[in-house]
Amino acid sequence: LHDDQLVEIRSIRTDDGPRLRASHSRLSPKSQYQRFLGVKPELSAADTRYLVDVDGCSHFALVATEAETGQIVAVARFVRLSDDSEAAEFAVVVGDDYQRQGLATELMDRLAAAAAQRGVRRFRAAMLADNVAIRRLMQRLAAGPVRILERGTVILLEIELAAALSPAPPVP
Ligand SMILES: CC(C)(COP(=O)(O)OP(=O)(O)OC[C@H]1O[C@@H](n2cnc3c(N)ncnc32)[C@H](O)[C@@H]1OP(=O)(O)O)[C@@H](O)C(=O)NCCC(=O)NCCS
Repeated sequence: LHDDQLVEIRSIRTDDGPRLRASHSRLSPKSQYQRFLGVKPELSAADTRYLVDVDGCSHFALVATEAETGQIVAVARFVRLSDDSEAAEFAVVVGDDYQRQGLATELMDRLAAAAAQRGVRRFRAAMLADNVAIRRLMQRLAAGPVRILERGTVILLEIELAAALSPAPPVP
């Protein structure tokens, strides 16, 4: 990271449930609210199952873990839309102590590449309207302008993925 901390980035695993719940409960209330667009002090057992039990194609998730302890410090995921297989909604969260170190940028680059390899061409995200960081992350990944699909306190933005224009060959 920018401050020379080391993290490991890997796909989420089904046995990450307890680590994911712990990482969520370490987030500040503000970060929890920004991620889930509501008050969520804890992940329920059902939330946790859904978030770790991904198929790697329509639901794909990466975690960043602290090199020494294995604790999850950040998560990025996309879920393909059921009515449009070329579009997916993404979400990303970085632990408060790790924010502004380039970690979301790194995760989102990898998430976009993985999405493009799986035939996703557009990313959308629902966010609080004042969430500057997510807008910047989306601008970075976009082939064109950021489109506003819904306005309000919570806004829905969509981009064409630049990574989808020339996706890297899939890893065999
Ligand atoms: C949004 C979030 C994931 C960004 O993570 P991060 O690791 O701090 O982001 P990065 O360090 O990679 O920075 C990404 C960009 O956002 C900018 N940024 C980050 N935090 C910012 C802040 N608080 N205010 C303004 N800009 C910010 C950075 O300067 C960078 O911009 P640049 O590429 O133009 O230089 C993190 O703040 C977070 O987890 N927030 C709570 C959860 C959330 O809002 N999720 C969104 C729901 S989809």
